[in-house]
Amino acid sequence: MKSYWAFFIFLLSSCQPSLDRQPRVDVYEPSTFFADKNGNRMPIADTYTHHFLKDKNQDTNPPSSKEEVALLKRGQERYEIYCMVCHGKFGDGEGIVTQRGFSHPPSYHTDFLREASSAHFYYVITNGQGLMTRLGDRVNPKDRWAIIAYIRSLQKKWENKK
Ligand code: HEC
Repeated sequence: MKSYWAFFIFLLSSCQPSLDRQPRVDVYEPSTFFADKNGNRMPIADTYTHHFLKDKNQDTNPPSSKEEVALLKRGQERYEIYCMVCHGKFGDGEGIVTQRGFSHPPSYHTDFLREASSAHFYYVITNGQGLMTRLGDRVNPKDRWAIIAYIRSLQKKWENKK
């Protein structure tokens, strides 16, 4: 029985993969995996840089490039389909469902949600929270980021109005 346990523990310990020895491509190292043999890869088309969404000042200037305008337009369209009934046109939590007895969602213009990271918004859209249903099965990842960019622009406009 004793040796059985020793063998079991030995088996468990051998399950620890060493991260030093995993297959990987180091910086500037060629790779046989890709057709062009280049280990360095370009970002996938339509990738949005993270700082664009995290930067709180992103809307102090009107979006300059066509992509940004398109992103915000798409975000507005998706927001109005998936979020507005509850969160309201301006994100103040006064969606039409609240007139029919549904609880008020929080306003996006509180300090907490102005300072919350875009990752938090992304998480809530994907998995829901409390009374809010998850929308991960209806809103694809690219559209989630577009909605967040649009909410950031709503927050900025609200701030400027004060
Ligand atoms: C059916 C109504 C409804 C819809 C649709 C809805 N929400 Fe919500 N949302 C709520 C309610 C209610 C809460 C408060 C949840 C709680 O904590 O109980 C909430 C909370 C949130 C919060 C705050 C989470 C926090 O940390 O306090 C965020 C951000 C949010 N929703 C974003 C969205 C976005 C973006 C969409 C659209 C993609 C959306 N919601 C769609 C009802 C909704």
